Amino acid sequence: MNIADSERIAGVLEQIGYEKAPNLDEADLAVVNMCSVRQSAVDRVCGISQKLIQSKKKRHKTILTGCMLRQDLHKFEDKFDFVFDIKDLKNWPRYLKGKELGKKDLCKISVEPRRQNDFLAHIPISNGCNNFCSYCVVPYVRGKETCINHQQIINEVKKSVEGGAKEIWLLGQNVNSYKSPENKKIDFPELLKMVNEIPGNFWIRFTSPHPKDLSDKLIKVMKSCKKITPYLNLPIQSGSNQILKKMNRPYTTNHYKKIVDKVRRAIPGIFLSTDIIVGFPQETKKQFEKTKKFFEKIGFDMAYILKYSPRPGTVSAKMKDDVEKKEKENRYRILTESLKKSSLKNNEKMIGKDLEVLVLKETKNLLEGKTRDYRNIVFEGPKKLIGNFVLVNITSATPWGLRGKIISTI
Ligand code: 5AD
Ligand code: SF4
Repeated sequence: MNIADSERIAGVLEQIGYEKAPNLDEADLAVVNMCSVRQSAVDRVCGISQKLIQSKKKRHKTILTGCMLRQDLHKFEDKFDFVFDIKDLKNWPRYLKGKELGKKDLCKISVEPRRQNDFLAHIPISNGCNNFCSYCVVPYVRGKETCINHQQIINEVKKSVEGGAKEIWLLGQNVNSYKSPENKKIDFPELLKMVNEIPGNFWIRFTSPHPKDLSDKLIKVMKSCKKITPYLNLPIQSGSNQILKKMNRPYTTNHYKKIVDKVRRAIPGIFLSTDIIVGFPQETKKQFEKTKKFFEKIGFDMAYILKYSPRPGTVSAKMKDDVEKKEKENRYRILTESLKKSSLKNNEKMIGKDLEVLVLKETKNLLEGKTRDYRNIVFEGPKKLIGNFVLVNITSATPWGLRGKIISTI
């Protein structure tokens, strides 16, 4: 979502004459797009603002925007020239250029992305969230869920595909509660079907669905639509039912396991990842043990393991953050070790196979990409393949990815 926002910021700024600077020192304007989900991200903004102040030339103006809590906003107000609301992006040109721009110029400005790469399109389908998980700041900073009209989404996908997009990400805090404001019958599975029907050679990915809304209909559509990739990020957050309750996550581990079984039956070998929080207030050793066992039972391909941090204004911030930092780190390490085992086991199953890969970048003379099911992969090849699909034979595996030999372009 932050990438999608940043690309839209770049798109709007470009319309009023800005272009990407080669580096910070040569920039006339620096924009920091922040995230409030965890304290560590907020702390990073402190560091960045310091760096900006040090590198500041006379011409160099700074903007802070993104998912911001009011109190963070006040904290940073004197460190940036402007603090702008991301929802107000359409009006930024007026704030930045003032009278230089006539009414006519302002009317012409549209909130369209300037993509970092033409082959990747991050397309929001909804904004905000109504779920109020007790630890989460998103409903407070992004507000209530609002869905984007399906026709607008379809148009954006079409335009991206025409512009060379090979991977389309449909984004929302809770994608599977999507309902088109134009037509309530168009829910998330219906939207996926419509996107799948758009002509072109591209992959569809989405993130993130909530386990409470993961319907049989969605699984059926994921199975039957050829462009939807066999990849699912399904946040579990905890493997203890008591903690899930305290988190205000209305499902049990049993329910989650049933969904995973159904998904794996329908789409064998699907890449399954999750988000999980360790050290939630009052999480006992026993409760963490349950999380660890459940985590092992599922055998995820990938997991975003996060140490709990209290976020101001949330329900859990009123609970005592009583799992010590060291213990949080310990729990984080235990789950990471477990993940390494399951992901290595799953990656090793790929050895010898020929897999479709989208080439994303080059690092240290190796091409890096993602397989259709979202595994990392590196291999040797010419830089000109970036942004293309290729076929790669898998030669070895690590917990975090695959290595292979290119066979052909597709
Ligand atoms: N502390 C730690 N992790 C959090 N997340 C959300 N809020 C917090 C918090 N207060 C994690 C959740 C969510 C992911 C985007 O961030 O796991 O799925
Ligand atoms: Fe936050 Fe996701 Fe829960 Fe919404 S569903 S409150 S975004 S963790």
